[in-house]
Amino acid sequence: MPGQLHEHTPVRGDKCAIWTDRLAVRFKNRRPIGIHVGHHVLGELGSLLRDAGAGASRIGAVTNTVVAHHYLPPVIKGLERAGYTACPIIIPDGEAEKNLERVGWLCGEWLGAGLDRSSMVVALGGGVIGDLAGFAAATYLRGIGFVQVPTTLLAMVDAAIGGKTAVNHPMAKNIIGAFHQPLLVLEDLATLETLPERQWRDGLAEVVKTAIILDADLFLYLEQNAEDILRRRPESVRHIVVTCAGHKARIVAEDETESGLRALLNYGHTLGHCIEALTGYEEWSHGEAVSAGMAAAARLARLLGLCGKEEAERQRALLESFGLPTRLPRLDPEALMRTLYHDKKTRDGKLRFVLSPAIGQARMLEGVEEDLIRKVLAGQ
Ligand code: NAD
Ligand code: GLY
Repeated sequence: MPGQLHEHTPVRGDKCAIWTDRLAVRFKNRRPIGIHVGHHVLGELGSLLRDAGAGASRIGAVTNTVVAHHYLPPVIKGLERAGYTACPIIIPDGEAEKNLERVGWLCGEWLGAGLDRSSMVVALGGGVIGDLAGFAAATYLRGIGFVQVPTTLLAMVDAAIGGKTAVNHPMAKNIIGAFHQPLLVLEDLATLETLPERQWRDGLAEVVKTAIILDADLFLYLEQNAEDILRRRPESVRHIVVTCAGHKARIVAEDETESGLRALLNYGHTLGHCIEALTGYEEWSHGEAVSAGMAAAARLARLLGLCGKEEAERQRALLESFGLPTRLPRLDPEALMRTLYHDKKTRDGKLRFVLSPAIGQARMLEGVEEDLIRKVLAGQ
């Protein structure tokens, strides 16, 4: 059965690791991909790789200047302790690094460092590093193994799980990519302590999305524990990361290449991507744009008579309690409509939206009428 496996080990014996959760993406007829969630567990990467059967001698660890400063040393130490030769590469921070030129440059660095087909790549950072290093690993020598070590909430609950890797093209985001599954995912919740507030809220937008489309209990938990979550209380952080990572693992195991079920994860992303594109990918962060997109999707569901006022209100209130925006920015409605038609999710010129008929449920609606969308854009 594809799906997830969840074991919780309260005490590991290691004096730093307080606890570890083990989940897995279980593809049919394939080795499961372990998702290890713990606290101060970066140093365990080397031994986890050995346990997963990675026979590589050289490991190309890719990270950025911000993350390297905090977290590269324990990763390198752990790799060397397990007998690997670590070849760290540190790139500048930012979404602008997710491009083909950087992929070519990385491949040159790896050639210079002697990485061969048996070598592995470690992506240490947020979704930008995971997408970039993952895509480079998918193409270097026609594909070498890689490991995701996400250090943002967004990457832990979403980007690092599922094998989507990509870089941007000047004309579109994430348009050059590949499905390339990591050998394993290591999530150290202690790294979230240094995450800036805005990035924390960005990740919360994806957590709320997961709750709206898949998990009414999680939604209730978020409503009742918003304060603890905003303060990043360890037990709340663990609960939301493990729950969301588990949902993501189950969905991608059932629909690896997004032929159906996985598309539901795009709730709020249709309008969200338009906001990001029309504001130059700088003014609005991804999570903020998705938040406004989800609130708009809830209004659309109401206009269609698909969900009641209370459902839409609960979504808006939860997003606002996390300090996330629920109103679309002032944008030219014609430009927004044009961008909507260019979206990756549009099929045969028909606009498609993921909508939620009730908290914990979602479905794809195709051929949504333009005038309804215009009403939502006008804030009705
Ligand atoms: P990011 O990778 O840019 O990280 C956000 C910021 O936080 C950066 O400045 C980064 O240096 C910093 N940072 C990372 N970890 C930190 C830590 N522990 N402490 C302090 N600072 C830290 O952004 P993101 O939100 O993680 O990811 C966004 C990217 O992910 C986008 O490019 C998006 O397209 C992609 N994405 C991919 C998928 C997928 O399925 N592959 C899913 C969602 C998003
Ligand atoms: N982030 C959506 C997906 O992985 O499919």
